[in-house]
Amino acid sequence: AGTPDPAITELKDWNQYSGPGVDAAPYGVPSPFEAHVVRRDVPWLTADPISSINFTPLHELDGIITPNGLCFERHHSGVAEVDPAEHRLMINGLVDKPLVFTMQDLMRFPRENRVYFLECAANSGMEWRGAQLNGCQFTHGMLHNVMYTGVRLRTLLEEAGVKPAGKWILAEGADASGMGRSIPIEKALDDCLVAFKMNGEALRPEQGYPVRLCVPGWEGNMWVKWLRRIEVGDKPWQLREETSKYTDLMPDGRARRFTWAMDVKSVITNPSPQAPITHGRGHTIITGVAWSGHGKIKRVDVSIDGGRNWQHARIDGPSLSRSLHRFYYEFNWDGSPLYLQSRAIDEQGYVQPTKDALRAARGDNSIYHNNGIQTWYLKSNGEAENVEVS
Ligand code: MTE
Ligand code: CO
Repeated sequence: AGTPDPAITELKDWNQYSGPGVDAAPYGVPSPFEAHVVRRDVPWLTADPISSINFTPLHELDGIITPNGLCFERHHSGVAEVDPAEHRLMINGLVDKPLVFTMQDLMRFPRENRVYFLECAANSGMEWRGAQLNGCQFTHGMLHNVMYTGVRLRTLLEEAGVKPAGKWILAEGADASGMGRSIPIEKALDDCLVAFKMNGEALRPEQGYPVRLCVPGWEGNMWVKWLRRIEVGDKPWQLREETSKYTDLMPDGRARRFTWAMDVKSVITNPSPQAPITHGRGHTIITGVAWSGHGKIKRVDVSIDGGRNWQHARIDGPSLSRSLHRFYYEFNWDGSPLYLQSRAIDEQGYVQPTKDALRAARGDNSIYHNNGIQTWYLKSNGEAENVEVS
C-alpha cells in the first residue's frame, strides 16, 4: 500500500451529481477534455484562408477511420454552401442522352459502401527540400480515410450512354472556383463513386455536400467536391489543375504529368513531435498508418535506428484496398535516443522509398507526390523531432 491516490479517494463532481440529460447535445460533440483534437493550418503556407488547406490530427487518432469533423479541408474558393434541393448533376458531351440528376434521382440508383483514403498530392510537399514541419499532422495530415456511400459513376454513365469516341471525362465542381479535372474513361468506368454519405451521414459541407466524386487511390485534387457536371470528351481538357498544378518539375526542366495514383506511403503517428512519449523507458507502443493507391498494404516495417535494421510491424484492423492500414510495433525502450522510421510495402510489391532515393530520381524542384520515408528523432526525454538521416 503506497500513498492514497486522490483520483480514487477523493469524491469528484461526476460521482455526486447527475449530468445533463439526453438531448443536451442533439448532435453530439467530443468531450471538452479532447478540445485540442482539431484540424490545424499553417498560416504562412497560403496567402489567405479561402484558397487554403488545414490538416488532419493524425497523432490523435487510432484505427483507420477519420472522424468527419477532423477530415482535413482543401478549398480553392472556400466552402460552397449548397442547397441540395437546388443542386443538379449534369452529364453531357459525347453521350447518347445528356442527363440531369437531382439529389433524389441519385438516391434511386444502387448504392455501394467503400472505405478509401484521400491524400492531397501536395501532402508532405513542404518536406522535399529537407525536414520542415514539426508534427505528423503537418507533414502527413493532408490525408483522411472515410467510408463513402454512393452510386458508381459507371452506373450514371451507362444511363447516359458513352459514345465510342468518349475517352475522357471532365469532373466539375459547383463552387466559385468551378474546379475541374480530366479523368480517363477507364478509371471513370472502373471504381469511381458519386458519393453523398461519409461514415454513414451526409457529407460535411467542407467535404463537398451534397455530392462529391471519389477517385480511389488517385490524388485528392481529382475528388471533385460539390460535383455538378460530368462531361464526356475525346481528350483531356488541360485545365489549370493538371498543367500548372499537380505536375512534377524534373531536373531536366520537363514535368511529369497525369501522375494520378498515390504511391505507397506510411508514417509513424505516435510518438511524433506533437505526441511525445511521457511514460519514460520500458514497454513502448509505436503506431502509425500506411496506404497505397495501388491496392492493399502487404507489410509495414519499423526501424528504430534510422533504417539500418527493420522489424515487421503488426497490422491490425481491416485491410482494404486503397484504404489506410493501422500498424503497431511494440518494444522495450531503454531510454536511449532513437531514429524512428516506417516503411510500407503494397500488394503490387512497391516499396516506400527513402527521401534520398526520391530526390535522386526526381530532383528537388517537386512539390507533389512525396512518399519518402519519414524520420522522427526520439530524444531520451521522450520528445520527438522531424529530421532526416542519410
Ligand atoms: N473540389 C472542388 N470543387 N473545389 C476544390 O477546391 N479541392 C481539391 C479536391 N476537390 C477542391 C475539390 C483538392 S486539391 C483536394 S486535396 C481535395 O478536394 C480535398 O478534399 P477534402 O477537402 O475533403 O479533404
Ligand atoms: Co489537394
